Amino acid sequence: MNTIIVGLQWGDEGKGKIVDYLTEGSDVVVRGQGGNNAGHTVIAKGTKYVLHLLPSGILWDAKKNVIGNGVVIDPVGLVQEIQRIESQGVSITPDKLLISDRAHVVLPFHKELDAAREAALGDQKIGTTKRGIGPAYADKVNRCGLRIADFLDREFTVQQITRRVAEANEILAKYDLTIFDADQVVEEVYTAFERLRPHVSNTIPLLHAAWKSGKTILFEGAQGTLLDIDFGTYPFVTSSNTTSGGSCTGTGLPPTAIQSVIGVCKAYTTRVGSGPFPTGDEGLSEYLHGLGREFGATTGRPRGCGWLDTVLLRFACMVNGVTGLAVTNVDGLDEYETLQICTSYDIDGAIHELPPADRKAWDRAVPIYETLPGWKSDTTACTSYEELPAQAKAYLTRLAELCGAPIAFVGVGPDRAQTLAV
Ligand code: IMP
Repeated sequence: MNTIIVGLQWGDEGKGKIVDYLTEGSDVVVRGQGGNNAGHTVIAKGTKYVLHLLPSGILWDAKKNVIGNGVVIDPVGLVQEIQRIESQGVSITPDKLLISDRAHVVLPFHKELDAAREAALGDQKIGTTKRGIGPAYADKVNRCGLRIADFLDREFTVQQITRRVAEANEILAKYDLTIFDADQVVEEVYTAFERLRPHVSNTIPLLHAAWKSGKTILFEGAQGTLLDIDFGTYPFVTSSNTTSGGSCTGTGLPPTAIQSVIGVCKAYTTRVGSGPFPTGDEGLSEYLHGLGREFGATTGRPRGCGWLDTVLLRFACMVNGVTGLAVTNVDGLDEYETLQICTSYDIDGAIHELPPADRKAWDRAVPIYETLPGWKSDTTACTSYEELPAQAKAYLTRLAELCGAPIAFVGVGPDRAQTLAV
């Protein structure tokens, strides 16, 4: 069975941990969108690994890991990440990590252009990770991007980089930001490319061969549904399709190759960066930060925290075709007396069960809550769903009812062993 793992909120749902859990029964783990804006934390046998571009299956021997065509790859960042993970004792061979020759490349000036755009937006800024993701995808859609395969043609690549550096420098000069030297950019990215070259191939036939021979493929989503360029809280989104459809366009595997879509959400809601967050709650944020939870894996920024929002989750389950929910961080609510679940929004007196498209309507959305009793006990040692306190099970049952999808997994802590299958 081939499965897509997709985030149902604004990213950081704990997808890495669910992917890691499901990797055991998979042969191939593939990423199809995003770049090193993602930060997937996996804790295995007591060791913490933070992955940005590498698929989470890299931590397992004998699994194939594919960075698909829909991902934007920062070659310098990827080489650093490979070195960091290798220094933690993980082997990364060309047989284990495959990089699509069709993937687009994040160049050093894309990151600076990202910063320039944010500066220009002032208090309307998106709050990006400044990893150059938006500018790299913009070049792709604008048909002036560089793909990994282009590096094989050095003459073309040098010309393309020289032209884009000149264009970028004009913009950067306006904001007093770093100006780039095309030769240096070429040198830097080629050094990184040489390290990556043994991993580069046409990954599409490889994935098809795996599919046709009955191998199990896991699609590792990055970010979340509300950050999707089409379905998210536009413009406060990332620049790719983070929803399940992106797993097909980003890998070359068709929808008919997929049998299951696991939607990952936290037992509450978090968001980093700017944009609407109707159920955001300062008390809950302070509480969770006080526990040392909810700091971004990529940027270290504290995440805003709020109550579970099933308006968003209902929509996310629809657009992704979720067949099972993985609810993580249930243990984060262990000590709370009473819990709130947002069931709909009141916008100017009208009840909305799905999120609005109109950006101004978000500011007027008043969450309508249902209050449930907390469980006031430690769930971190539970080894099965049945062992969870009755109130925790009631909370999860209500969540599933409101979203219209069954619970498949529950997370009660960061370790691989703290994932309970339902
Ligand atoms: P970008 O993807 O860096 O362009 O950032 C766009 C928005 O997506 C910002 O609000 C970021 O904070 C958010 N974002 C991007 N990647 C992640 C992620 O992996 N987790 C959570 N938020 C993310």
